[in-house]
Amino acid sequence: MEIVILPTPADVGRYAARLVEARARARPALVWGLATGSSPTAIYAELAGAVARGLDLSGVRGFALDEYVGISDTHPESYARVIRSQVVEPLGLRPENVRVPDGRAADLEQAAQDYERAIADAGGIDLQILGIGSNGHIGFNEPTSSFASRTRLKTLAPQTRADNARFFDDPADVPTHCLTQGLGTILESREAVLVAQGEAKARAVAAMVEGPVSAMCPGSVLQFHPRAVVVLDEAAASALTLTDYYRHTFANKPVWQRVPDAD
Ligand code: F6R
Repeated sequence: MEIVILPTPADVGRYAARLVEARARARPALVWGLATGSSPTAIYAELAGAVARGLDLSGVRGFALDEYVGISDTHPESYARVIRSQVVEPLGLRPENVRVPDGRAADLEQAAQDYERAIADAGGIDLQILGIGSNGHIGFNEPTSSFASRTRLKTLAPQTRADNARFFDDPADVPTHCLTQGLGTILESREAVLVAQGEAKARAVAAMVEGPVSAMCPGSVLQFHPRAVVVLDEAAASALTLTDYYRHTFANKPVWQRVPDAD
């Protein structure tokens, strides 16, 4: 894993946005895996600025990581709606090129299989954006998720429902289930960029990067990913032990490996 530690949450968003921009310029039909929640919002906002200055993302195809089960796609917290308002509309993606798992399907197992097929038909995900839960989940792969898992129905952990209660009027309204890309699905992305900000993520980040690979910290599966970049602010990096090494590596990164206009 490459660990990038930057001073502020805004720097994290800017760096990851420049990375997405570089990949989309190199491959206009980029297949982009999209996280929701608080962590990636600065990335999308930064990219909206780049689009306003002329970046064309209209050829990019998108796949959301996950979706709640049992809320309508017009509910303000459904990920279908969040992806529309934070990604599709401001970044000028074509709605028909962006998919979110169908959490309202009568047959959720079939919907999960269809989603896997759609990702495969698109040629696989080139660049997967990720956040991490305070319990170490990525996507909604909660602790003890199989490392071989594919898109499927999951029960949200009580910790995740409590963490996400801030988005809902009443904590009881947080859905209990979701459809999520599996850890096996995420591992097949050609590049993964995980962003984390704030002290509340520090323990999960340290377990993911430096802890043993364990289903108790699903994010630790990224230790097997061939190209994973973890972009952190100082607070999210505060429980790591090898920070001097990560900073040294970043400062001495070969020019050809750098993200244009970011470092
Ligand atoms: C969201 C997702 C989750 C979040 C994680 C962190 O699509 O898959 O893994 O990335 O729960 O959430 P925030 O960013 O809201 O702290």
